[in-house]
Amino acid sequence: MARLSWLRLPVLALATLSLTLVSALPLSFENTAIVRTVDLGGSLVYVTTTYAVRALDDGAKQYVVSLGEKEAQSVSWFEAKVKGQSEPLGVTTGLLDPHDGTYSYTIDLSNPVSVNNTFNLVVETIHTHTTYPWPEKVGQEKEQALKYEGDLLVLSPYKTATQRIKVRAPEPRIISYTTPEGLDTFTTDNIATKMGGTITYGPFYNIPPSASAAFIEQHQKHIVVHYFYGVPVVEITSLKRSAEISHWGANLNIQNDVALHNAGPALKGHFARITHQSQTYYNRLPPHVIPALTLHLPPGIHSAYYYDLNGNVSTSRLRVAPSVPKASESKKYSTLELRPRYPLMGGWNYSFTFGWDSPLADSAGYDASTGLYIVGFPIQTVIPGAVVNEVEVKMILPEGATDVDVYPPFAPITQQRSTHITYLDSIGRPAVTLTFENLTDMHNGLIYVTYKVPLSAHLQKPKVVSIAFVALFLVAFLARRVDLSLSK
Ligand SMILES: *[C@@H]1O[C@H](CO)[C@@H](O)[C@H](O)[C@H]1NC(C)=O
Ligand SMILES: *[C@@H]1O[C@H](CO)[C@@H](O)[C@H](O)[C@H]1NC(C)=O
Ligand SMILES: *[C@@H]1O[C@H](CO)[C@@H](O)[C@H](O)[C@H]1NC(C)=O
Ligand SMILES: *[C@@H]1O[C@H](CO)[C@@H](O)[C@H](O)[C@H]1NC(C)=O
Repeated sequence: MARLSWLRLPVLALATLSLTLVSALPLSFENTAIVRTVDLGGSLVYVTTTYAVRALDDGAKQYVVSLGEKEAQSVSWFEAKVKGQSEPLGVTTGLLDPHDGTYSYTIDLSNPVSVNNTFNLVVETIHTHTTYPWPEKVGQEKEQALKYEGDLLVLSPYKTATQRIKVRAPEPRIISYTTPEGLDTFTTDNIATKMGGTITYGPFYNIPPSASAAFIEQHQKHIVVHYFYGVPVVEITSLKRSAEISHWGANLNIQNDVALHNAGPALKGHFARITHQSQTYYNRLPPHVIPALTLHLPPGIHSAYYYDLNGNVSTSRLRVAPSVPKASESKKYSTLELRPRYPLMGGWNYSFTFGWDSPLADSAGYDASTGLYIVGFPIQTVIPGAVVNEVEVKMILPEGATDVDVYPPFAPITQQRSTHITYLDSIGRPAVTLTFENLTDMHNGLIYVTYKVPLSAHLQKPKVVSIAFVALFLVAFLARRVDLSLSK
């Protein structure tokens, strides 16, 4: 296995997603403090919640984090760590508790804690589709503003001594924010204070266990924050990536069919080219106009292409970083600048295809002792701050490949096997297709696929090719003969 070790096959955390109903242990802990920071973005909102926890029992091994129904439905990334440690803790996602109206995430603490011990748990979540442009339509010269909507209080099955919620906008100009009323039970001070681009709610004191329908109905508050947002709101409505592994050509081809949506405010009135040109000239393009996208691709690639419904787009530019062995683990990248034929105004959609080839050796390994090939490639091309609503990743393996196994960095929604037939294939190539939903810029791992190619399959292609040649030759030969005999 020595030659495989660089790949560090990810241990599939399938168990993480298994839907188990959790029996909470509400008395094992108390929260001495909770601080939540909500970083407002475009199609992604990043939330960090730190729980300062004290154990009330000996030997408690599981801590339960609760999210309200809407919060949980918008979460597409969830990671829990003990503060200061780099390894994430195991998480089991629970179902909606129909009685309490909350979802439980059970965190496995690596070591059982003893009574009165304290630790800080840091939970990072990324929420998708929690903002929308407001106003919904603006003129070509106007700024872009978004509204964020969410729940205020951090829920927990344990009682909480103090909690504070900070909502951070990307710039200090905040148009408006909610100051909820009816939280007098938990504070006598100001409920909300604004400093620069940050609104701080609380501190709130002595909150009883709150992961219950009664608490939510009585105390949970809905907040709306309206803020300026100076970068494009990119939403990828669909990404279809296919990775075709060819031993015959020692090549890995990656092709991406992308449907992009500019989720900023829609353009009010008509597009004025003169306005656009002067904005471009003075470098004052408003963020709801997207002139180009810059993508980071693996090093060592070649033959990159980019076309849309009208054909090859010649305004693209590729800068290739040199090939490095085991490219998939390298920090170097090539840059592809995609400049569509026309600027993408707010609300517009744009479908395009881009792809590239790379030497198979950059991302493949072979283990002679087991006869297994292993190929690793990135699951998606990340666009910072963008959500990808629907993702389909199809891996097309060499003809005759057997013992195919796939190791995605996180669990897919569906997985399907099929056979892919292209020209000069005889029996077709095995293919595996995985689908995902709502991927974020943290979903950036590698998919590994392992397989065997029996010797007979290696010879399959040359055999097909040579049969084709012999057939051609025979046809030509016969034609020639027939031709000759006719001319006589
Ligand atoms: C835990 O702390 C509480 C309050 O500080 C104290 O009363 C109790 O004796 C402690 N228990 C142990 C086992 O140390
Ligand atoms: C497409 O455009 C690129 C960029 O100008 C160019 O390098 C490439 O040769 C074109 N491809 C085809 C097939 O025309
Ligand atoms: C863009 O795509 C979205 C989602 O696929 C669709 O709902 C919307 O109607 C499209 N907008 C336009 C202007 O075609
Ligand atoms: C993805 O997001 C949409 C819109 O927020 C939601 O309806 C859907 O359930 C999400 N899918 C998953 C698997 O979470």
